[in-house]
Amino acid sequence: MSTVTDKIVPEPDEQAGRRGFLAAAITAGAAYAAALAYPVYRYLASPIEQSAAMSAVTEVALKDAQKLSPGSVLMFKFGTQPAMLIHHKDGQWVGLGAVCSHLGCTVQYQPGPNRIHCYCHGGEYDPQTGANIGGPPPRPLKKYVVKVTDEAVVVSRA
Ligand code: FES
Repeated sequence: MSTVTDKIVPEPDEQAGRRGFLAAAITAGAAYAAALAYPVYRYLASPIEQSAAMSAVTEVALKDAQKLSPGSVLMFKFGTQPAMLIHHKDGQWVGLGAVCSHLGCTVQYQPGPNRIHCYCHGGEYDPQTGANIGGPPPRPLKKYVVKVTDEAVVVSRA
């Protein structure tokens, strides 16, 4: 007479193989989740990071910009945002943000007609004040304080 008392017990090597497979599956799942989450994180964090970078910058010194001839413009970055320094023909210096208040295109100063124009949808701004004077822009351009020294033009937040 025989009794069946033998249990099927996995061999030690087989148990280690299962644990290894489980660990590899968990690692691969975590890596896959991270790969999916990172672009979402970057998308959501970008405006916050840009805002923090912008608020960290309070002034920009533009070396030798005092030599800019009247009736011309110098494009530069104020933090992460494009900006412009206009030296008007009457000698006045004006610092303005160059981001259109409509949908964020970069605007350009046109000395001939003496206007700031946005090519995206035809927005227009006053080059002295940055006021929105035509087209779809709902707000004026950001205005900066300009100080001219012997070595540079310093543009700072108002
Ligand atoms: S983005 Fe400038 S007018 Fe639309």
